[in-house]
Amino acid sequence: MSAGVITQATELTQVPACVLHVLDRTQVDLFLQHDPSEPSVLYREAGYPLSEDRANGLAQKFEGTLLVRARDYAVFCQDLSKSLEGMLKEESLPPTQRFEVLQVAVAVEIEHSLRMINCDKYVSNAGVVGRQISSLLDRGDVLPADLFDIVRHDFHTFVHVTNVASYATLLAKELGISDQRELEKIAVGGLLHDIGKRHVPGTILTNSEPLTQKEWVIIKQHPLRGYEELCQRDDLDEGQLMMVYQHHEHMDGRGYPVGVTGEEIHPWAKLLAVVDIFDALTGDRPYRTRATKKQALEILDKGAGSHLDKEMVACWASAMQKR
Ligand SMILES: [Fe+2]
Repeated sequence: MSAGVITQATELTQVPACVLHVLDRTQVDLFLQHDPSEPSVLYREAGYPLSEDRANGLAQKFEGTLLVRARDYAVFCQDLSKSLEGMLKEESLPPTQRFEVLQVAVAVEIEHSLRMINCDKYVSNAGVVGRQISSLLDRGDVLPADLFDIVRHDFHTFVHVTNVASYATLLAKELGISDQRELEKIAVGGLLHDIGKRHVPGTILTNSEPLTQKEWVIIKQHPLRGYEELCQRDDLDEGQLMMVYQHHEHMDGRGYPVGVTGEEIHPWAKLLAVVDIFDALTGDRPYRTRATKKQALEILDKGAGSHLDKEMVACWASAMQKR
């Protein structure tokens, strides 16, 4: 295929342009779109040494959106994951760009390992990715509002869980938690929180119609199913298990699975609930369009005190406005 071949945008999926700074080559064709109203064109074919683009300054000057064919996305993510550890330490890249690459690089492993019958692989991936997320976000140069601008907002499991884990880490920092090990545990808990949804049929999770009573009963089992799956492990602690078990509990006792009230809900589960809802509202879902940041914060505010912890909602709202 030669440069200049035009491909329909519907066949393509966007990837972070900063990969040009970290990948030496990829096994898939890369496409470029200068303007959303224009068709995409081939930028580099598979195997092209991207290091040449860095050497001649093209990667620095890159303008536009970088895309790969949707069917090549998994291979592209795997290419990226091979360079991930080195890239995370790459001080010349801003932490926000490193986060963008991280989110795509872990996509395939997270989505696949979540579907395995035994959850060991997923928990071990969560341990690695949680450490990567918390060490990237620990230094304080990524603000919640920056993170909101760069995270993906589409309907993929890896997007929701990596967003929630990252937001939870930043909210924990805003609330005064500074211990690196504790932040790492919170990030891992964020990645694990919906592990019980492995047992919910995909047809219910992606249903664009309002759920029936029966379907709600099934959905509401996911915190308990997740807790049951993880509670025998000795590599997770109480706070992380409560993030899984209690993230749908409400301060006024009207949540599930048990209906406990505020004082019985673990603080990590309370903070997770705030960012879980925030990310669900600001992400695309099959049954509705996403809310803006402002709309999502207004909805959180309406639930402050009854559903969500009041101070935590206020802390998240003020953190989201800081630049
Ligand atoms: Fe959940």
